[in-house]
Amino acid sequence: MIAFITGGTGFIGSHLIGKLLSEGWDVHLLCRKETNFSLVNNSTSQPTIHELTGKPEDLNRIVKKVKPDLVFHLASLSPSVHTLEDIPTLIESNITLGTQLVEAMVQNECYQLINTGTILQHYEGMPYSPASLYGATKQAFEAIIQYYIETTPLKAIHLKLANVYGKNDPRPRIFSLLKKAALEQITLEMTPGEQYIDLIYIDDVVEAFYVAALRFEKRMDRKQEKFLISSQTPIKLKELVRIYEEVAGHKVSICWGGKPYRSREMMAYQPYGIPLPQWKIKNSLYEGIKKTLSIE
Ligand SMILES: NC(=O)c1ccc[n+]([C@@H]2O[C@H](COP(=O)([O-])OP(=O)(O)OC[C@H]3O[C@@H](n4cnc5c(N)ncnc54)[C@H](OP(=O)(O)O)[C@@H]3O)[C@@H](O)[C@H]2O)c1
Repeated sequence: MIAFITGGTGFIGSHLIGKLLSEGWDVHLLCRKETNFSLVNNSTSQPTIHELTGKPEDLNRIVKKVKPDLVFHLASLSPSVHTLEDIPTLIESNITLGTQLVEAMVQNECYQLINTGTILQHYEGMPYSPASLYGATKQAFEAIIQYYIETTPLKAIHLKLANVYGKNDPRPRIFSLLKKAALEQITLEMTPGEQYIDLIYIDDVVEAFYVAALRFEKRMDRKQEKFLISSQTPIKLKELVRIYEEVAGHKVSICWGGKPYRSREMMAYQPYGIPLPQWKIKNSLYEGIKKTLSIE
């Protein structure tokens, strides 16, 4: 199988590349001039890299050359809170790039796409209620895909991910913040901690992409499917910190209520979407935190 991956140099994409290569796939990766490859698997087999030059025809040229059986679209800019300056790159990364990709796919008769969405498209479990501008751009791109679904042979599976955690996450996520605060013996200012967090370990997410990829063979004539990739057991931030302290074996000094809640935090668990068939979470939160912190 030939896979073409966008966002393959990111946290999730780099793990997905490792999985596909280990399963014997021929993996092709989209990148930019400024892309940092430090996360991409350093095993003996390597993905083939295709660079964007900034021209509108880039994706057409690349897709024509690769002729992928399946495209995994993960590239995205995902700020939790956006600034005015973020808006052009947010639109470019989350809408324009994806639209050029799908246009290139149908022009080159490549009709199988896995698109990456987020639970932030569905605040309070609504069919469309974005929790952030980032969530709104993800939904906008999903709506654009609908056009291609209705007018071309394109088939798509949308995976809407909860919060992904694990090793090699370059961003300052909750566990690295807690670890740093404990090591440096500083007090972390946090919200009152009553919001829910839905966390899934990176290996389980990669498995979801893989199960979705294999699904294309079985799903017969279904043009489009949408699945929620969630732990299905979100917990309150306060409880998450308690579990972290238990697994890590150290306390973290936290000033609860030192920061206000962000707008549209998940104050109740109201999931939207159905789970991916044939996929199950294998790593409990305890196991996932252990692996993330490299505790045997
Ligand atoms: N991580 C999570 O908790 C989570 C939760 C829900 C959904 N998701 C979704 O899952 C996907 C992967 O997330 P991630 O955490 O792995 O993201 P990430 O680590 O931030 O990686 C983002 C990737 O997108 C690429 N990219 C961004 N804008 C691009 C552009 N204009 N042109 C080409 N490449 C571009 C980046 O390339 P460069 O290396 O060149 O910057 C990088 O490879 C995203 O679609 C994200 O929205 C993630």
